[in-house]
Amino acid sequence: MVDTAPSPITIETVSGAALAPFLGDLARLRITVFRAFPYLYEGEEGYERGYLETYAKTPGAAVILARANGREEGRVIGAATCLPLAAETANVQAPFRARGLDPARFFYFGESVLLADYRGRGIGVAFFAAREAHARASSAADFATFCAVQRAPDHPARPADYQPLDAFWRKRGFTPRPDLACTMRWRDLGAAEESAHRLGFWMKSLTGAKLP
Ligand SMILES: CC(C)(COP(=O)(O)OP(=O)(O)OC[C@H]1O[C@@H](n2cnc3c(N)ncnc32)[C@H](O)[C@@H]1OP(=O)(O)O)[C@@H](O)C(=O)NCCC(=O)NCCS
Repeated sequence: MVDTAPSPITIETVSGAALAPFLGDLARLRITVFRAFPYLYEGEEGYERGYLETYAKTPGAAVILARANGREEGRVIGAATCLPLAAETANVQAPFRARGLDPARFFYFGESVLLADYRGRGIGVAFFAAREAHARASSAADFATFCAVQRAPDHPARPADYQPLDAFWRKRGFTPRPDLACTMRWRDLGAAEESAHRLGFWMKSLTGAKLP
């Protein structure tokens, strides 16, 4: 008999050395989810290792893990990352510094990735709540911020039924900031070379402080 009931999901916030056993799972999860539009990320295992090790090594960083229980035995089916913006790479901090915004006032949410079969069950909402709780408990940051890739509305790889996440993010209390954008480089699916991608920032107050 096949059990088709959804597995119970455990959400936990993990930091430091405790992340080590999950880095391989997390790399595969990112590559799987980010292959889809709008990221279209070809995925390099070597890069993924280094990127994720940063979360294990950086003080204040955390990964929220969603794990399936029951018959799935703890498989990581989703994750969300966060760390102090001051610990992010220079390209991510650059738009803030250029506008005179002190990175120490911001907590950066790296990504939320969830296998498609597990969407629409409130796990994405839980990822935001857990990251905000971690930022409040572990830092004095006034604001949470994240960035999202911006693709042309007529991009040839855009699926006809693609649903942008803007409404989801607004509902979490975030405001888009067209004045803040950074550049990240990756190889798009099927491309021979890396190219530059523009990512626009969103922001939310964690403390009631007015958005800058
Ligand atoms: C982002 C993501 C984690 C959301 O996860 P999820 O668990 O499906 O979201 P939830 O079930 O928690 O959704 C909660 C609410 O948001 C709504 N929602 C979810 N996706 C939405 C979308 N694309 N547009 C508008 N609303 C959306 C749900 O309808 C639900 O609304 P409700 O509270 O009124 O019922 C998931 O879609 C994902 O992994 N996407 C691919 C990767 C990605 O783009 N990540 C973001 C950038 S890093």
